[in-house]
Amino acid sequence: MERLKEIEDNSIDAIFADPPYFLSNGGISVQSGKQVCVDKGEWDKGGTPEYIYAFNLRWLELCRPKLKENGTIWISGTHHNIHVVMRCLQELGYKVLNTITWQKTDPPPNLSCKYFNFSTELIIWARKNQKVTHKFNYETMKQLNGGTQMTDVWRIPSVSKWEKTCGKHPTQKPLRLLYRIILACTHEGDTILDPFAGSCTTGIAANLLGRKFIGIDQSEEYLQLGIRRKEEISDPQTAERLLKKMSENPEEVTVLVNHAKPETRFLMIEKGICYLRAGESEGSLQVTPGFEKMRYVLLHTNGDDAQLFRIRKGKEGSFQIWNKETLEKHGFHPEHALYYIVVPFENTPLDYSKHPNLRQRINTYRAQIRPLSDFIGLK
Ligand SMILES: C[S@@+](CC[C@H](N)C(=O)[O-])C[C@H]1O[C@@H](n2cnc3c(N)ncnc32)[C@H](O)[C@@H]1O
Repeated sequence: MERLKEIEDNSIDAIFADPPYFLSNGGISVQSGKQVCVDKGEWDKGGTPEYIYAFNLRWLELCRPKLKENGTIWISGTHHNIHVVMRCLQELGYKVLNTITWQKTDPPPNLSCKYFNFSTELIIWARKNQKVTHKFNYETMKQLNGGTQMTDVWRIPSVSKWEKTCGKHPTQKPLRLLYRIILACTHEGDTILDPFAGSCTTGIAANLLGRKFIGIDQSEEYLQLGIRRKEEISDPQTAERLLKKMSENPEEVTVLVNHAKPETRFLMIEKGICYLRAGESEGSLQVTPGFEKMRYVLLHTNGDDAQLFRIRKGKEGSFQIWNKETLEKHGFHPEHALYYIVVPFENTPLDYSKHPNLRQRINTYRAQIRPLSDFIGLK
């Protein structure tokens, strides 16, 4: 709180705050197949309701003058703290804009079996000023969502291994979550503050996206981890790799290509017909949720032999893909498409055991669906 006071007033474009949730009460969970205690550290031990309220009111009060008049704040939490945070925001004169539900696509099981499995966190988005309009990059969010309005439910996986190469923080947030938040409400060159920075996930995402960062934390150890992460991205290749990783959402973009021998693949492209099935598949493609929304597919290998396909829903949940000629015959021109998806094939065979619905290990590959903007270099 002392450090917060030192920051210049009206200088911050956006704040992301991941405060203590006050949930370290000796509960249990699962990590890498092992039973572990959920306790995060002394800083996360619950106090009295009065203490939790006073703590949240104080730091939120100190944050408000630091924001520019059009600045916004995001606060993450669970039922342990988020309702108190909401009350404090309203008391302090912030205007609440949205409550985002972050649905984790890979939640650990609930071992007690006395509750529904906890799979979500909530993120309140509010702005400083009741009257001054905030920044919202609506079109960017729409594009990230495949061409349709983004909703307030975000399906994003928990923090992954590739984000922990410098060590780990007990409550580290995924870069993919911060990527979306930062892109939603800031522009290049803006300054982002995180008053509970921990391992500085916010800072890493901010810097990778060309934004400035100020982070505060009570733990020297966590801040050292943040500094190591910052050093790691000073290598341009690492920065590029992480930027690419965090801009992908594997849940929404992966299709599994089964029986895709190189010659079959080219035949598929040449003939322009293949079948996508959402369930168990003997066909060519098995799709993950989200894929059903796709209307067009552009198949290519490294960009040279790209071909655009329109997907037509067929019998029994299968989809037919039209080739360019068929499209043209039916009066289709590229500008008619709301959005396109690019499917570059990767040449690494898939871990078959993790995908019991696929019948064949040989020649089964993962394909990433990417927005066309990526493919043609638009930012
Ligand atoms: C939920 S964690 C944030 C994790 C971070 N988002 C990340 O991705 O690594 C909360 C952090 O707040 C810090 N913290 C708790 N109480 C604090 C306080 N009073 N002042 C400053 N930092 C505090 C803790 O050390 C912890 O690192």
